[in-house]
Amino acid sequence: MVEIFNPSVADSVGLTECAPDPTAAGELVFFHASDGKPLATPWQVALARSKLLTQLKLPAGYILDCACGSGIQLGAHMALLQRPGIGVELDVQRAQASAVNLQSIAKYRNEEGLERMQNTRIVAGDGRDGATVCATLADHFKLDEYPRIALLHLDPARPRNSRTHGLDEMAPRLDEVFKGWAPYLAEGENGPALLLDLSPRLTHAQRLEVESLVDEVWSGIERTWVWTSRGRGRVDRLALWLGSAATEGVARRFVRIPPAITEDAYVVSGGTPLSQGDGLPAPVRQPPRRGERVSILDAALVESGMAESWLKTVTKSEHINWGVVEGRRPQIHHQHPLRLEQASDRMLVQATGRVVALARLELSIESVDQLVELVLEHDVSKLTVRVPLPPEIQPKIQGAIDRQLARRHGRREAFLVQQPGDEMLLICIVE
Ligand SMILES: C[S@@+](CC[C@H](N)C(=O)[O-])C[C@H]1O[C@@H](n2cnc3c(N)ncnc32)[C@H](O)[C@@H]1O
Repeated sequence: MVEIFNPSVADSVGLTECAPDPTAAGELVFFHASDGKPLATPWQVALARSKLLTQLKLPAGYILDCACGSGIQLGAHMALLQRPGIGVELDVQRAQASAVNLQSIAKYRNEEGLERMQNTRIVAGDGRDGATVCATLADHFKLDEYPRIALLHLDPARPRNSRTHGLDEMAPRLDEVFKGWAPYLAEGENGPALLLDLSPRLTHAQRLEVESLVDEVWSGIERTWVWTSRGRGRVDRLALWLGSAATEGVARRFVRIPPAITEDAYVVSGGTPLSQGDGLPAPVRQPPRRGERVSILDAALVESGMAESWLKTVTKSEHINWGVVEGRRPQIHHQHPLRLEQASDRMLVQATGRVVALARLELSIESVDQLVELVLEHDVSKLTVRVPLPPEIQPKIQGAIDRQLARRHGRREAFLVQQPGDEMLLICIVE
């Protein structure tokens, strides 16, 4: 027997885990169960994603989240797409929490009485088993036919505390969900619509494995990979949007969630299909030169394979030399300044400037005096170290530089970089 929760009349009796969502300005308080809080999608991320879905033409019908956890993503999709929802969750208490959270979202938006809310249900059961879920709901609503599924959303649980994991460790498994639901998904212009919320830790080979699982059921279906970042150079989410949820001709998309919930996400689209490679530029070692520009880009943008597409929008067909591709500080060298008129573009650059001096110097506490004398020749008042250093040393060196420069009278802001395997320090004036 599967249990069904109706969000319109759900209550929180028996639920004890509860916390305000930190991205919703304290206005939404969500229930969780069975330590489900860390699994939940932050409200702001959920909303940004649902907003992108509103730009697409989905088939008519329900939004299905077949591993709905605390129901936060499902609630955001339902609210922005104005559709009824079906959530499926194995853990009965989490299913109850989902129902309560959908009610809270509806209350918060003044949408409790809407018909789509009356038609929404959370099923405590196996999200791989489309046949049982559809039959149970048809019976429950006394329908002659099964509910039509406009969008299947899947955010499977994965092992915690491990940097890598196999596709078969996702719960529920992708292939099992695909097979269990394929017959019940409504067809849009580009076939069924699916949104797979995957781990950013998947390797390129595993992403291709996901594509082959998809192709086994929907051969050649349209696909857009979406990397989402909330800043600090981290990819927070990697998702695969499929069929009528994909955007034709867009293989990759980078979505930067802005600091304020009221601002729209910044989206960069383009790139090459994953079948053609991981999209990472090839690093080229070239001796650095005075006068050239050095920019340190957002690491998450580079990881998405979208950096070269984006660079085309902020340079005039310029040749870009990639000094560093991987890690926290991807570094490019170029001749002309980047055109960063938009605040959204500036968000994707950690630092950009012109090389004014090269110093063959081993950076240490002992060499700070020598470095400071050199930068003062270039009228520098502040120098940010952007060289990879052990975390226990970095603040000491930065502190020593700051203290010395505070006593002098420079006027310009600068940063310090280095190329891998090269001792040469590059002093760059910020532009
Ligand atoms: C990462 S969480 C989903 C979080 C959700 N996106 C949210 O916004 O709260 C994944 C959920 O899948 C559930 N799950 C695992 N196997 C399942 C199955 N076979 N059927 C349904 N749910 C399952 C887990 O209990 C967990 O709550």
